Amino acid sequence: MTTSEPAPAPAARNEDIEGRPDSEQQVPQEGSVPADSAQTDSAQTDSAQADSAQTDPPGGESVRPAPAEHGEPAAEPSIVTVGAPAADGADLGAVGHSGYDVVIGSGLLSRLPGMVGAQAERVLVIHPRALRATGDVVREDLEKAGYQALVAEIPDAEEGKHIQVAAFCWQVLGQNDFTRSDAVVAVGGGAVTDVAGFVAATWLRGLRVVHMPTTLLGMVDAAVGGKTGINTAEGKNLVGAFHQPAGVLADLDTLLTLPRNELVAGLAEVVKCGFIADERILEIIEESPEQVQNPHSRQLREVIERAIAVKAAVVGEDFKEAGEREQLNYGHTLAHAIELAERYQWRHGAAVSVGLIFAAELARSLGRLDDPTADRHHSILQSLGLPTTYRDDRWNQLLEGIRRDKKNRGDQLRFVLLNGQGMPATVEIPDASILFATYQEIAESVSGTSVSL
Ligand SMILES: NC(=O)c1ccc[n+]([C@@H]2O[C@H](COP(=O)([O-])OP(=O)(O)OC[C@H]3O[C@@H](n4cnc5c(N)ncnc54)[C@H](O)[C@@H]3O)[C@@H](O)[C@H]2O)c1
Ligand SMILES: [Zn+2]
Repeated sequence: MTTSEPAPAPAARNEDIEGRPDSEQQVPQEGSVPADSAQTDSAQTDSAQADSAQTDPPGGESVRPAPAEHGEPAAEPSIVTVGAPAADGADLGAVGHSGYDVVIGSGLLSRLPGMVGAQAERVLVIHPRALRATGDVVREDLEKAGYQALVAEIPDAEEGKHIQVAAFCWQVLGQNDFTRSDAVVAVGGGAVTDVAGFVAATWLRGLRVVHMPTTLLGMVDAAVGGKTGINTAEGKNLVGAFHQPAGVLADLDTLLTLPRNELVAGLAEVVKCGFIADERILEIIEESPEQVQNPHSRQLREVIERAIAVKAAVVGEDFKEAGEREQLNYGHTLAHAIELAERYQWRHGAAVSVGLIFAAELARSLGRLDDPTADRHHSILQSLGLPTTYRDDRWNQLLEGIRRDKKNRGDQLRFVLLNGQGMPATVEIPDASILFATYQEIAESVSGTSVSL
C-alpha cells in the first residue's frame, strides 16, 4: 500500500479516542515541501521558522515551570538512567552507548544546558508549529545560557516525519556551520523526537540530541530508547537510525495543554508496561482511573515514572532490538495491522489497546494466560475509555498486516504473549485459524454479515 492513498472515513465508534482531525493525520505526500523549508536563508540566522497562524493550544504557553497546585511544593524530579550510568568519559558499554538520564518532573528547563553539554556552541531547537511558543522559550533559555540557539519549526505530527523536513533541518545545520560537537534539542511529541533524532543521527554521522517530549506517548515511549525515523511513500518509519539521546527531559507541565485524547491514547502504552513488567502500574490505574488522566496528579506522575523505568530497563539490555526489546511490542502486532487498515486515522494508543485485548485473548485460548489476568486487560482499558473491539469486516486486511510484522520468521507468525502477569514471551503461532477464532471473540459487528477466513 502507499501512504498517499485517500483515507477511508474513520469508524464512528470511539472516534473521540481513535481519530484525529484530518489536518493532523496525513502522512506526507511524496514530493510535498513543508512551507517552512523555503526559509533557510542565512539572513534568518536566529530562527528558521516560517510564518504560521498556528500557536500553542489554549491553556498553556510553554514548558516554563508552572506554580505548584494549591501551594504545594513541587516534587523533586526523578531520574531514570538508561544503560550504563552517564558519566564524563564513560566507556561505551555492552549496549553500545554510555547511558543517559531521563529526568521526570516539573519546571525542568534549567536542566537543559547540563544535558546539551559544555562542548556545544550551537544548538538547533526543532519543534512543531503547534508548539511555537514553547520552542521560543527553550531557545531563549539556551541563549541566556550562552549558546547560539536557532529554531527550526516543522510541520505538525506525521507531516513532520518527511525526508524534506529532514533536508530542511540539515540545510539549517549546514548554513549555520554546525559541527560534530554542537547539538539538537527536540521539543514535541513522538513525531518530533523521531525526525529530530534522525536529523541528529545523520548530520556529520551523529550530533548530540536532547529530547523534550511533550506528549505522554513521547515521554514513556518515543523519546526513550534511541529509535529515530521518518516515513516514506511506502510506509511509516521505514527509514531511520538508532541514535541514543544525550538525555531526556520529561516535563510534566507540558502535558497540561495536551488534548485529553492524546493523553488517554498514551496511557495504552503505560498499561502495556504494567502487564509486561510492573503490576503496580495496573493497581494505580485501577485505584484511580480518573486521576491517571489528570496531568496534575501524583498518580499520573507515578505511572509515567514506572513506565519509563520499564522501557529503560528493557532497552538498556537490548539496544538494537535483538531479543528482549521485542516484549515492548506486546499488543503491537494487531495494533500495527489496525493502523495500516485505518490508513493511520487511528491514534497509535487506541490501536494498541485493541491489540492488547487480542493478545490477551489469544494467550487465553492457547492456555497460556489465566482468566483473571486476561479479564484485567478488558477492565483496565475500558476504565480509561480506550477501545477494546474492532470491526468484524476487516479480518483479511488485518491478517495481511499481521503477516508483514517484523517479528515473523519466514511464514511463521510470531506474537508477544503473556504466560502470566509480568511474563512476556515471543510465541510462534502455527496456524492462522486460531488468530481468526480469537479475532471473532473481540470483533464488533458492523455489517451484520458473517466473515470468512
Ligand atoms: N522512536 C520510537 O521508539 C517511537 C515509539 C513510539 C512512537 N513513535 C512515533 O511517535 C509518533 C507519535 O507520537 P505522539 O503520539 O506523541 O504524536 P505526535 O508527535 O504526532 O503529537 C500528537 C499531537 O499533539 C500535539 N502536541 C504535542 N505536544 C503537545 C502539547 N504539550 N500540547 C498540545 N499539543 C501537543 C502535536 O503537535 C500533534 O498534533 C509516531 O510517529 C510514532 O511512529 C516512535
Ligand atoms: Zn507503541
